[in-house]
Amino acid sequence: MIIPRRYLITSALPYANGPAHIGHLAGCIIPSDIYARFRRLMGDETLFICGSDEHGAAITLRARKEGATPKEVVDKYHALFVETFDKLNISFDKYHRTSAPLHHRTAGQFFHDLYDKGSFIEKETEQYYDEEARQFLADRYITGTCPKCGYEGAYGDQCESCGSALSPTELIHPRSTLSGAKPVLKKTKHWFFPLDKHEKWLRAWIEEGTLEGTSHHYADEWKNHVVGQCKSWLDNGLQPRAMTRDLDWGVDVPRDIPGSEGKKLYVWMDAPIGYISSTKQWALDNNGDWEKWWKDEETQLVHFIGKDNIVFHCIIFPALLKEHGDFILPSNVPSNQFMNLEGNKISTSRNWAVWAHEYVEEMPDRIDELRFYLTKIMPEHKDSEFKWSGFQESVNTDLVNNLANFINRVIVLTNKYYKGVVPEVDDLDEIFSARGGDEISTHEGEMLDLFDRIDAVNGYLRKYEFRNALQELLDLSAAGNQLLQFNEPWKQIKERPEVVAPVIHLALQYVAALGLLTRPFMPDTSDRIMDLLNKPHLREDGELLRATNDLAEGLHLVKAGERVSAPKHLFTRIEDEVVERQMQKLHDTLEANKSTQYEPVKDTLSYDDFTKLDLRAGTILEAERVPKTDKLLKLTIDLGFEQRQVVSGIAADHDPSDIVGKKITLLANLAPRKIRGIESNGMILMAQDANGKLHFVSPEASCENGATIS
Ligand code: MF3
Ligand code: ZN
Repeated sequence: MIIPRRYLITSALPYANGPAHIGHLAGCIIPSDIYARFRRLMGDETLFICGSDEHGAAITLRARKEGATPKEVVDKYHALFVETFDKLNISFDKYHRTSAPLHHRTAGQFFHDLYDKGSFIEKETEQYYDEEARQFLADRYITGTCPKCGYEGAYGDQCESCGSALSPTELIHPRSTLSGAKPVLKKTKHWFFPLDKHEKWLRAWIEEGTLEGTSHHYADEWKNHVVGQCKSWLDNGLQPRAMTRDLDWGVDVPRDIPGSEGKKLYVWMDAPIGYISSTKQWALDNNGDWEKWWKDEETQLVHFIGKDNIVFHCIIFPALLKEHGDFILPSNVPSNQFMNLEGNKISTSRNWAVWAHEYVEEMPDRIDELRFYLTKIMPEHKDSEFKWSGFQESVNTDLVNNLANFINRVIVLTNKYYKGVVPEVDDLDEIFSARGGDEISTHEGEMLDLFDRIDAVNGYLRKYEFRNALQELLDLSAAGNQLLQFNEPWKQIKERPEVVAPVIHLALQYVAALGLLTRPFMPDTSDRIMDLLNKPHLREDGELLRATNDLAEGLHLVKAGERVSAPKHLFTRIEDEVVERQMQKLHDTLEANKSTQYEPVKDTLSYDDFTKLDLRAGTILEAERVPKTDKLLKLTIDLGFEQRQVVSGIAADHDPSDIVGKKITLLANLAPRKIRGIESNGMILMAQDANGKLHFVSPEASCENGATIS
């Protein structure tokens, strides 16, 4: 007996700093929707919650880039999310947003409760402050030279060149990205949450599933990579973490707390509380009770997230919830890994993505195809890769040739041989087994096999193994095709019509099972299968559980005498043009990126400073490689009134023999330097394109050597 339970299912709140892409969809939006629909189909009391994450540096950075206010940015992307997720048939019970007053109140109160309990440590630290912009700088707002690799564009939290995690004070020559000014260290006070005090129970809870002081034991196995990441955080030792920031966009630290002026909640404290405020808003809208979803031990809380969110959902937020008291902790955090696109990491800033809003615009009648392919390649245990050719191949093979073809054949044959009426059968009627060979089985035996197949899909869904569940579903459809293939009703109908009826009857049970099982993955397809069977669309209120119970008792899903509809194809092939068009779009992105990758223009320079540069026309007289280097050439330059020796790093793009006689521009008054022990007196001006290739900046050939350039 399966006892229905209560499930609160959350999908990570996407940052409202850009549109959603296939990585968001495959990472948590689609798996959470599959799971929520599955739970409803199993009769569980289910609430599915999400919303937009509208605070933090990600938002203010985007606002600056777009020349808009943070509010304008979040309004724009929040609206786009709502519209797109709706078109993708994501069945959120509530999609809320963290800029809503209800959320501000909820998060502020949560902070206040912890403050009142004395849960925070107040600490003064030194942080970078921009005196021109008159504000403290979030780590991302500071750039400088990486202390590890020397890359000049490193951020205060990370160097994107060598991948090191940094703190802003480690940067050499730090600069504020707001004003370009050199930031100064200034004292500021923050409230820290002593995570280290929670290490012990967190470890037992994550590693064994037991919770100190209670009889709680979570029922599910957690994914290996999730437990692995948590263990490594725990093994490295947890540190107190600041729960507040000096910012002007976010949730205020409650103003009655002394020293709260100008302080906002840390976005990673604020956002997960968004799950709670979203539940509260749902309760207000539906006359429901939010507390039973968050405070009753019987509720199973399941967070769907991407792997970069693991520490926040498995360590920090649970610690905050436990410290607060009254709240349940997650039963599972089935995090996914990342999905790449055509060989590269998905990137919002480089526009390397398949944007969800563009897909639903361009292919509005292929929503289930996308949901299907993203599930088929879901990065459940390791990173995966989206390929348009893979999309085409999966749709054409799995959906058109297998699923749609099977269902269509059954409906066509039912109409043709039985005028659309489901034929009568006996449990002992003989059928060639769908498993091949000469094996004969009974109708009843095959129905039991169908039960096992449905049960296998359910088993995988319960374990968050959506890829395997989908594969079982496809296998069921393939078995249906074989059933027809082995029994050849089109041959038997004339000579032995009595063996055709049990086959068609059984095949119709398969179709009904597919109508149920496609529901979590492809809700529209399920509706269309139910239409073919002349049955109502699923309302997701326990139908799968009831069907499984019926089958276990020997009942049929489709009964003799019921009438099916006229045949209609469920899917059509994806033609090559579709793939070519999408690949062209990505190719255009690559091209566009090349021309936009140039550095922004540097700080303004006075005319006096400019005239300090002594630029001259010259000609390369001699050129030779500097031994044991790849890039350096030793050049002799004719300046008319004198000759100069210059060492120049251009050998990767220019052969010594090709450049003798070349007109060049020389910065003639650069202080002499020794490069590889060779004195260099001046610098040749080169233009560097987006591919890093160096081009000479040459005066016309008629220009005399020594001529000044200004
Ligand atoms: N906005 C975050 C991200 O996209 C996820 C927030 S999940 C929540 O990575 F728990 F904080 F809500
Ligand atoms: Zn670096």
